[in-house]
Order: sequence, then structure tokens, then C-alpha cells
Amino acid sequence: MIHALSYVVAFTPHLKPWTRMAAEQIGLQVEPLPLGQGARLRMDDKYQRLLLLDANQADMIMGFEVADAGALEAAGGVLADAGFPVRAGSRDEAELRGVADFLWFRDPDGRRVEVAWGLRAAATPFQPGRPLGGFRTGELGIGHVALITEHFEEMCRLYKAVLGFRVSDRAHAPFRVEFLHVNARHHTLGIAHTGGPAKIYHLMLEYRDFDDLGRAYDMALENPESIGVTLGRHINDHVTSFYLKSPDGWMLELGWAARTVGPDWQVEELEGMSLWGHDRTWLPPDKREEARQILKSLARKGVRVPVVTDSQNRTANP
Ligand SMILES: [Fe+2]
Repeated sequence: MIHALSYVVAFTPHLKPWTRMAAEQIGLQVEPLPLGQGARLRMDDKYQRLLLLDANQADMIMGFEVADAGALEAAGGVLADAGFPVRAGSRDEAELRGVADFLWFRDPDGRRVEVAWGLRAAATPFQPGRPLGGFRTGELGIGHVALITEHFEEMCRLYKAVLGFRVSDRAHAPFRVEFLHVNARHHTLGIAHTGGPAKIYHLMLEYRDFDDLGRAYDMALENPESIGVTLGRHINDHVTSFYLKSPDGWMLELGWAARTVGPDWQVEELEGMSLWGHDRTWLPPDKREEARQILKSLARKGVRVPVVTDSQNRTANP
């Protein structure tokens, strides 16, 4: 039913530093909205992929893509039958997003979630905020979101039983987490239950070229407090990435060469979260040490996985 993560809407009280980071460091294209309302951030040939809106409080809405008007109606029916009342998006809101139509509902944590179809193409070619080989999007969607939930069972029911997301892998320690996919992207959603309050943990965006990730990391090293998780490689989607703190506290995982999954995918139990690196600077010291010990154990065992990617650009970019 759901094809991909199509866009996110981020509300922020820190519009200026947000747009500067988006353009200069991440390399997104910033198209300011009138009257300082915010900006449309582009990462490909679509009208927007991240809608940044001026607000008193930070928040983030995921926008999931369905095929057409019929699929949107079907999704609305399925959600309502499962006890999630849906509302139609207004014409103005649809216009702001550049979608033909959308609906929204609230997840078990009370967060607004949107389902949309018909995200239109932009009128102009993508012009990155800094020289870049672009982002890996298309049928894989824009990336993934990881959430911390206070209602783990209910969230898993919503996304798996109601919306048809499929499990990629899961871990039970040091906390419960499930990674779910809707297309060949290894996961479009990560749901974690840490015992802490519900919040957005991060949004992952994927560069096509390794060097573009390295340059984002160079810029982050000039401002070390902006690094939430150091450079490393995840044990499940094999992405090489680091996490940049957004001005609103939640993080952007900037990655390269995530592996994809196919119909023959077997659900895996994860031993840790990363193969190397990914020091989570925000963790309490005991949890940070626990993570270090897991990395050392994986290193002693010699666990390594190949880089498999179709994402690297073949042509040099001027
Ligand atoms: Fe991630």
C-alpha cells in the first residue's frame, strides 16, 4: 500500500540556522517560501522533499506515498477501520506540499502522519546547495526515519498490520527496536522503545557519492558539538554515515551505500547496531562503554561485510 517515504514536514523555531545547514553543509536546494514562512528543500527533481516551516515548537511529520487517488482512499479506509480516524488535507496544505491530495491521522504517540499521492516534479532541474553528485531517492524514497515510541506494540501494529510495512530486522538489547521496509530500501522506518519519551530520533538521507559524505563530515568536524554520532557503519543496512544534530535537537543521519533488500529477505536478529564507529556522543557513559565493547567483540571476530552499491555516480561532477 505505502510505496515510500515521500517527504517530511519539519516545524522549526530555528529557520535561519536550519536553512544554512541544509544548503551549505548537507547540500539541499533551498527555495524560500514567501513572507518568511519557511522553505522548500529539494534533493532531486521533485517539488520538495523536506518542507521547513517557521513555528514556535519543533516537530516533524512523515509523508508516505501511495500510487493514486484510489490507493489514498483505500489507505484512509484501512486506517479508519483499524481505529485511526483520518482527516483530508486542505487544498492549501496540498498546494504547499506540491501533492495532488493527502490525508492525515495521528499515530499512537499522538504524532501527525500524512499519506499522499501525486508529488509533482519541480519546474527546474535540481541545483544542490554545494557541488554534489545528488541524493539516492526515486523508488527508494528519500531515506528513513527512526522514532522513539512510548507505545511500541501499538506502533508496530499500526505500521505492520495496518499499513503493511515488512520487518527487515530487530534487536532486543540494549532496547527493543524494529526496522521496517516498504520497498527495496533496507528500512524506511525504525521504531525503538528505550523507556524514554516519544520523539523523532533521526532522518536519514543518502548521498550518491562517498566524497559528498566525507565533505559533510569535514564541515561537521569544524563544529564538533554538531556531531551526534561519529562516522561509522551500521550492521544492518551497511550504510556508512554520521549523525548531524539539527538546530532542533533531532538528528540527520547522512549516509552512503546503504544496501537494499529483495523479496527473499530473511528477518535478522541484530548483534549491536554498528560494525565500527558511530560513537553516540549523547549516550550516558555506561551505555557508551557498552556500545564500545560490542564493537570490540565484532572486531575480534573479524565481522566484515562488502560495500555493495549502485549509487556511486559514474561521471565526475564539475
Ligand atoms: Fe538510521
